[in-house]
Amino acid sequence: MGKQTPMMEQYLKIKADYQDAFLFFRLGDFYEMFNDDAINAARELEITLTKRGGSEGIPMCGVPYHAAENYIKILVEKGYKVAICEQVEDPKTAKGVVKREVVQLITPGTVMESNMLKEGENNYIASLSHFEDGSYVIVYNDLSTGENNITVISHGWDAVIHELYNQPIKEMVISSNLPEDLRSQLQVRLNVTLSYQDEVTFNAEYRNLTEDLNDERLMKAFSRLLNYIQHTQKRSLDHLQKAKVIELKHYLSLDMYSKRNLELTETIIKKGKHGSLLWVLDQTVTSMGSRLLKKWIERPLLDKHLIEDRLNIVDAFYQGFMERDTLRDTLKSVYDLERLAGRVAFGNVNARDLLQLKQSLEKIPELKATLNQFEQHQIQTLSKGLIYPKDLINLLNTSIIENPPISIKEGSIIRDGYNDVLDTYRDASRNGKKWIATLEKKEKEETNIKSLKIGYNRVFGYYIEITKANVHLIPEGRYERKQTLANAERYITPELKEKEQLILEAEEKSIDLEYNLFIEIREKIKEHIPELQHLAEIVSKIDVLQAFATVSEANNYHRPHFVESELNIKNGRHPVIEQVMKDGSFVPNDVTLDENKNILLITGPNMSGKSTYMRQLALTVIMGQIGCFVPCDEADLIIFDQIFTRIGAADDLVSGQSTFMVEMLEANHAIANATDRSLILLDEIGRGTSTYDGMALAQAIVEYIHNNIHAKTLFSTHYHELTVLENTLDNLKNIHVRAEEFEGNVVFLHQIQEGAADKSYGIHVAKLANLPQALIERARTILQALESGNKPTPTTEKIESGQLSFFVEEAEREKENKKPIPASEEKALDELKRLNLFEMTPMEAMNALYRLQKQVKL
Ligand SMILES: Nc1ncnc2c1ncn2[C@@H]1O[C@H](COP(=O)(O)OP(=O)(O)OP(=O)(O)O)[C@@H](O)[C@H]1O
Ligand SMILES: [Mg+2]
Repeated sequence: MGKQTPMMEQYLKIKADYQDAFLFFRLGDFYEMFNDDAINAARELEITLTKRGGSEGIPMCGVPYHAAENYIKILVEKGYKVAICEQVEDPKTAKGVVKREVVQLITPGTVMESNMLKEGENNYIASLSHFEDGSYVIVYNDLSTGENNITVISHGWDAVIHELYNQPIKEMVISSNLPEDLRSQLQVRLNVTLSYQDEVTFNAEYRNLTEDLNDERLMKAFSRLLNYIQHTQKRSLDHLQKAKVIELKHYLSLDMYSKRNLELTETIIKKGKHGSLLWVLDQTVTSMGSRLLKKWIERPLLDKHLIEDRLNIVDAFYQGFMERDTLRDTLKSVYDLERLAGRVAFGNVNARDLLQLKQSLEKIPELKATLNQFEQHQIQTLSKGLIYPKDLINLLNTSIIENPPISIKEGSIIRDGYNDVLDTYRDASRNGKKWIATLEKKEKEETNIKSLKIGYNRVFGYYIEITKANVHLIPEGRYERKQTLANAERYITPELKEKEQLILEAEEKSIDLEYNLFIEIREKIKEHIPELQHLAEIVSKIDVLQAFATVSEANNYHRPHFVESELNIKNGRHPVIEQVMKDGSFVPNDVTLDENKNILLITGPNMSGKSTYMRQLALTVIMGQIGCFVPCDEADLIIFDQIFTRIGAADDLVSGQSTFMVEMLEANHAIANATDRSLILLDEIGRGTSTYDGMALAQAIVEYIHNNIHAKTLFSTHYHELTVLENTLDNLKNIHVRAEEFEGNVVFLHQIQEGAADKSYGIHVAKLANLPQALIERARTILQALESGNKPTPTTEKIESGQLSFFVEEAEREKENKKPIPASEEKALDELKRLNLFEMTPMEAMNALYRLQKQVKL
């Protein structure tokens, strides 16, 4: 490579520090990218790739600086980082190459622009630190709201993944010596951008954020994150809030499987909110409320008093329908105070944002008045916590005009009377303009040219314009000609130019001054950030609690009672399915689980509602423990410490996603961690393997839970043979979902009844699914043979409809081909069966496949 130009040298030097980011290198009105950055950016952004310095030159592409935001957005949403490199000295005065520096690194976890953030969702950047004692510390930070949460995981890597799963984390900051396999798990499981920060010394500037931390591990973990943010953002982080420690033992623990299987905040298949519990409960009206609701759903409470506190408020909101309606209306005009505060600190608010802030704050008295109409004392306390920020509102009222422009660099932001100097400038400019208007009138009269007018443009400034037809009327020497148009002449006079200069100078000065004043106002608002955050916290809480009251009323939920040992639900419903069915045809069912009968073994035909029944219990428990009313007529609930689920939710739909291994992993996770205060849901455990294996495992698991764990358990199965366990296991009770046969068809009643199901209706369901009639008949014959204890005779008969010939031929061919499989192949097959694709990266899968092929090729 030849010698670099000085500018390229500068580029390469800066790029060396930002290897893992796209370097947006400012050149005039463009951000340029070179080399690999250019090739990759051209592909990702679909922009043209060119060469710098002719066809032999280096690859290059660029985006105009004023449109950069959109391109940055695309890259960041795809998980990339973008380093913004600006000219930091004036090109006019620079000697040699203009000095350039990276002013900000925009990463998925540090975006602040509102168009890159989802309103009702947090945008976390998290850090993960591991310590010699085997513990892990996770720090969550949302830069847009300033919140900082810290969690300690004392037991193992799995718990880390369970904790992180489903959190809205966009980026994880880790130490560069975190083992490679753990790193790749983070990437595969959580789909996050990884960043590295090894510096964990505490920056004393942030002492006030860590007052509550008294553990060195926490300080180090928090410092890892702060140092990274500080290093990448290079700007004020005054809005960061005190680090709050989240003690996991204070919350109902939901493992990764349960968060996913129960579809708490997103559905399994579509990964969307629609169809999740969050979707049903989200009657919040502010985005702050919506974010808090999601957090509450993922961390239900364990402390009865805290739950009852929430329920008391929900109850009061529920009763006061009219007042609640007013409350919702008022809340609608409260903007996202939390994120506005964040952007004030970050320095990217404009005057319109400040106006939104003002309008939101002005709603506080109304909000308080509405809350005061509820007599409930906890609501009164919330209302008292809403302190009207008089000084701040005053500042905003006196400083920002009613209709400011988007830009903060073009003036027309600050009110008259706010600043004396600004007022003088404005007077000068206004007087000057008045003088010009008078001049126009005077000149018209004196020259007697009616069409004479004074105009302005950026190039010539103020001028007197006279149409060609009237030019002869101008007295000799009165004006100086400046510009000739097709049908008019433009003139100036020394006096006019003098005034022009005064006006323009005043305008320029006032625009500069307005910008400075705006920055000053923004700095003043920074001092109020803690007040704003405090308000945001209360408003979001009120919003979630009113949302609970609103859904509870709309869907006829009832307040649960918390009892010590006997769980009793009357006419319980599945909160999501009943919404989807809408027509009110959902069949309610009771649930009873007490000390004596704490395992329910559920049988019943396919499609009858076994899985639904199990999930509805878990969702009811969660709703109760987050302080919402529950979908039933009456509920005595126990406070559970953990919920474990093994529910074949995705297995029927996404083939290959559910393997027997996942099933066993989930079961093992439950057995290893459950206590007698836990709820375990095992849906058709053992069905992923051969009948006898499956049945044996299922029975062993039930017995183990019964004898050793004593957790409240719902266990559904198609193995009717298991129903005899009721005779030997004291605490197990059979229940079944009722279905009836009517004229050869199955009718689902979806009703839970005591005792075991007498019959399986699998073939009926197959019929409902429109399998060929001939096939159904054949299945019936085999079934009869099996039921009478005979071995069904295989058929080689071609079935009439012809649709089955393929299978029959296949069977015949198989018979012919039957020869012993060599041991090496058997081993490979075995291994193949055991592969857990769900847990593998594509690369690992490739490697495994390669190995297996080698084994059988021998
Ligand atoms: N209580 C109910 N009231 C009305 N419809 C219900 C009820 N329970 C379930 N259903 C309907 O039946 C469908 C099947 O329910 P579910 O998946 O729970 O059956 P299942 O017994 O678990 O079946 P399988 O044995 O095939 O897993 C649901 O999607 C729902 O539409
Ligand atoms: Mg099921």
